Amino acid sequence: MIALRARGLTKRYGWNDSLVRAVDEVDLDVPAGQSLAIMGPSGCGKSTLLHLLGGLLRPTEGELWVAGRRIDRMSERALARLRRDHIGLVFQSFHLMDELTAVENVEMAALLAGTSPRAARRRAVHLLDRVGLADRGNHLPSELSGGQRQRVAIARALSNSPQVVLADEPTGNLDSTASLDVLRLFDELRASGQTLVVVTHDARIAAVADRVISMRDGAFADDSMLAGTR
Ligand SMILES: Nc1ncnc2c1ncn2[C@@H]1O[C@H](COP(=O)(O)OP(=O)(O)OP(=O)(O)O)[C@@H](O)[C@H]1O
Ligand SMILES: [Mg+2]
Repeated sequence: MIALRARGLTKRYGWNDSLVRAVDEVDLDVPAGQSLAIMGPSGCGKSTLLHLLGGLLRPTEGELWVAGRRIDRMSERALARLRRDHIGLVFQSFHLMDELTAVENVEMAALLAGTSPRAARRRAVHLLDRVGLADRGNHLPSELSGGQRQRVAIARALSNSPQVVLADEPTGNLDSTASLDVLRLFDELRASGQTLVVVTHDARIAAVADRVISMRDGAFADDSMLAGTR
């Protein structure tokens, strides 16, 4: 099963002299269960690619399938449903709901998708524990540090057991202890066969991935399966 497939995927911004080829005719196949790290210098198109894969941004050209469905021309409504049911997004700007506690923020996605309250709560508590926040479940976002909020957002992205998890610099603002928690969680997801695409500058995250793609100027400069892939 192919979790993600792109053909000639392209996102351009601007015109003429100001034309930017943020993502330039990318072909990609990510089999279900693969964990993929995307690396590359600032501005090479990593976030743009991830936003395309998550259906948050329309490609200028090209075809894209997510979880077996073609999404490049899907209606906004159908896209929203696909994201809710099949995609977990961890982005640089993570928006938690201010009036909900950490555990309520995490369980919300599962509740919206129809999971029973009891099962949603159980999973939320487990995920918060995995990201090192077992004792912060009843805190509001305003009572948490930036790194703690980021970890709540990661737990939230996983609450619905999505087929595909897309993460943009998930350890970007975290200290080494907190990023180790996230690293362990991702390793656990990888071991359980979760499809994972992680944009990262963190060599430790790339080291636990099955495959690493390096981007340059909107295209893939290198694509390697890691030795010892499990
Ligand atoms: N809305 C936009 N309008 C015009 N250009 C854009 C827009 N968004 C991104 N770009 C350009 O597209 C290119 C790719 O940006 P992108 O955010 O994907 O890079 P990145 O690899 O994620 O970088 P970083 O590591 O700094 O996060 C950059 O040159 C950027 O300036
Ligand atoms: Mg980026």
